[in-house]
Amino acid sequence: MEVRSAVVPAAGLGTRFLPASKSVPKELMPIGDRPALQHVIDEAVAAQFDHIVVVSNVAKPAVEHYLTPDPQLIADLRERGRDDTADRLAAMGRDWTVDIVYQERPLGLGHAVGCAADVVLGDAFAVMLPDEIMGGHSLLERMTSTCRETGGGVVGLLQVPSDEVSAYGVIEPDGSMVNGVIAVRGLVEKPATIDAPSDLIVIGRYVLTVDVFDRIRALTPGTGGELQLTDALREQAASGPFHGVLCEEERWDTGNPVGFALAAVDLGLRDPIVGPALSAHLDSLR
Ligand code: G1P
Repeated sequence: MEVRSAVVPAAGLGTRFLPASKSVPKELMPIGDRPALQHVIDEAVAAQFDHIVVVSNVAKPAVEHYLTPDPQLIADLRERGRDDTADRLAAMGRDWTVDIVYQERPLGLGHAVGCAADVVLGDAFAVMLPDEIMGGHSLLERMTSTCRETGGGVVGLLQVPSDEVSAYGVIEPDGSMVNGVIAVRGLVEKPATIDAPSDLIVIGRYVLTVDVFDRIRALTPGTGGELQLTDALREQAASGPFHGVLCEEERWDTGNPVGFALAAVDLGLRDPIVGPALSAHLDSLR
């Protein structure tokens, strides 16, 4: 099974980050030493993906600019001895390639993923929501292995208190969890707590077989009037193997300003350049 492409839906206008997001897409705002988008790309590349598909919005030309190779900038950085940054920029087009597709209207996550149908390579692909930053690439790697072993789609899972499930997609398990992997019988988008089939929510990592695009084309508006990816996955889970893999690594929800600030502090503390001063500053506030 060939698994190469990672689709990153990034067409939203980031209204929670206005006024900054008026000109700087939230995916390009730095968290620690990198833009959020780069964190997600680095996770994908570390998990052996070599083709990134960014679903963007024509109102966000900075995303395209960021993803365009700039040999002059790389040369200038090398001249100034900044080889680390130059190496990082040089990886684009060498270690991984990128395609940008555009979502013209905000019709939902299912629709955004569907916009990538013509450029995705291989038999299965990842979907990575850039509002979630992971502490490593082991979840994505485990999900990809599970997809190869089972031949079906896989979602990343987290167990949450039952009063939090209504903000997420929730799985209906089929049996119990073994070594962090559980079979999925169904999925429901943002159920009321009382209707939720479990306390296992879908986080922003998916590895999906390409037949999901047929399910997406057939979608009708679901929760919130949007074309929901979860609804396409429910159809897949009803007709073939489908699994969830429990997230066992750190994760930051950076889609809201509080989560964004927490990730910036946590990752800043780990940065060899910024970390010591940031740590000393935080100590001085106590
Ligand atoms: C989306 C999905 C939802 C999933 C969530 C993870 O929701 O529709 O199923 O649980 O991402 O972050 P959104 O956060 O876009 O409302």
